[in-house]
Amino acid sequence: MKKNTDAGAKLLLITIDGPAGAGKTTVSKVLAERLGYKYFDTGALYRGVAYEAKKNNINSGDDAGLERLCATLRLEFIRNEKGLRLFSNYFDITDEIRTPDMSMIASAVSASMIVRSYLLSLQKELGKEKGAVFEGRDMGTVVFPAADVKFYLDASVKTRAIRRYKELSGKIDSLTLEEIENDIKLRDENDKNRKLAPLKAAEDAVIIDSTDLEVESVVDNMLSYVQGFLE
Ligand code: DC
Repeated sequence: MKKNTDAGAKLLLITIDGPAGAGKTTVSKVLAERLGYKYFDTGALYRGVAYEAKKNNINSGDDAGLERLCATLRLEFIRNEKGLRLFSNYFDITDEIRTPDMSMIASAVSASMIVRSYLLSLQKELGKEKGAVFEGRDMGTVVFPAADVKFYLDASVKTRAIRRYKELSGKIDSLTLEEIENDIKLRDENDKNRKLAPLKAAEDAVIIDSTDLEVESVVDNMLSYVQGFLE
């Protein structure tokens, strides 16, 4: 497998879309690492807006408030020894945005045209340099319709809920598996049925069901497909 660092290696823009808990973040990180690419978790950007909206008492239906917020908001990805971190107005908010509360608010603000168009230009800017894996909900359909390789990663609701439960255990002790499953169902509903950039597989995306697959198998499947675009 050619790496980004190899002289003359072709650089691709790869997108991975899919619902919450399908394993996009883990898979994107490993895939990017194996290719020597950068990876971008675009859900973190929606969570960043959610975090600032909550802090400023702006709700998801308050267009004027969201407009004001986006006009001055500075969201930035910074890679440091802790990995990919999200900074908002120069503060590292990476840990604060990973709560069930932030998940629900992110899903709600992501239906706003103001928020989506603010983040669309930010994401397009980040994607100017190829050699990157972008994960989210509308990467292959709206943000990068001309991406070189597109994947749609899915898994059953039960499996996704169990993964989230394990991820959150020790951090948030008040949520049961059933509550997490309900949150996931609700977010699926919001993300798939919103008018703007709803969650769906791009027509040219390769669909992978990760219900019974380990991360390594998913990445191996993806790499063998990607290989065809590198030759
Ligand atoms: O991937 P995540 O669970 O961190 O994303 C949080 C929310 O952000 C998700 O429920 C919907 C929204 N989102 C989006 O609308 N478009 C994206 N490209 C990424 C996330």
